[in-house]
Amino acid sequence: MRSNGFVLGAVLTTALGLVFSTVSAESKAAESHLAIPAETVADYLHAVIEADRTVYTVHVVERLQKKGKIVASEDWRTSHTLPLPAQFLRESSELAALTGSKVRYRLVGLWPINPQNAPTTESERQGLEEVQRHPEQRHSGVISVGGTQYFQAIYADRAVAQACIGCHNAHPRSPKRDFKANDVMGAIVIEIPLSD
Ligand code: HEC
Repeated sequence: MRSNGFVLGAVLTTALGLVFSTVSAESKAAESHLAIPAETVADYLHAVIEADRTVYTVHVVERLQKKGKIVASEDWRTSHTLPLPAQFLRESSELAALTGSKVRYRLVGLWPINPQNAPTTESERQGLEEVQRHPEQRHSGVISVGGTQYFQAIYADRAVAQACIGCHNAHPRSPKRDFKANDVMGAIVIEIPLSD
C-alpha cells in the first residue's frame, strides 16, 4: 500500500514535471517568435500620446484658462504660465528619448506657427496632405535617417478643444486663422526604428 502510494506520487511528480517543462518550453518558443507589426506598435503609441495631450489640453489648459487662473504660453518657463500643448508633447518626447528609447514623435503642420514644425521632406508633406484629406487613416512608410531605417506613421491632429482653435486663430505668427472645431490642424509623426 505504502509502496503503491510512493510509486503513484513519483509518477504524478514526473508527469507534472513533464507538463510544466513542456509549457515553459512552449512559452519560451512563443516568446522568441513574439513580434508585433510596427504599424500596430505605432497605433498603440499614438493612442497613448494623443490621449495624454488631449487630457492636458482639456482638463488642465482649457479648464484653468476658462476659470481665469492661468494661461498657456510659449515662455512658460520664465513667465509662470503653463506649457503649450505642443510644448507638453515635445518635452515628453525629449524625456522619453533620455531613457534610451529610439522611438521619436513630434507635431508637424501645413500652417505651422513655428516654422520648425513644417514637414521636413516631400514625403512627409504628402503624408500630411493625405491625412488632411482622410483624417481617419494613418499614413505610413519606411524612411532612412542617418543609415537607420524607421517605420514612419503620420496621424491627423484634430482641434479637439476650443482652446486649440482659439489660440491658433489668434496667434500673431499663425498663417491660418479660420480653424474650426474638429478641423485637422496638423499631424503627429511617430518614427519607430526597424532594428535594435
Ligand atoms: C495657448 C495656445 C495654443 C493652444 C491652446 C494650442 N496650440 Fe498648438 N501651437 C501653439 C504654438 C505657439 C505652437 C508652436 C509651438 C512650438 O513649436 O514651440 C503650436 C504648435 C502646434 C502644431 C504644430 C504646427 C505649428 O503650428 O507649429 C500643431 C499641429 C498644433 N499646435 C495643434 C494644436 C491642437 C490640436 C491643439 C489643441 C489640442 C493646440 N494646438 C493647442 C499654440 C497653441
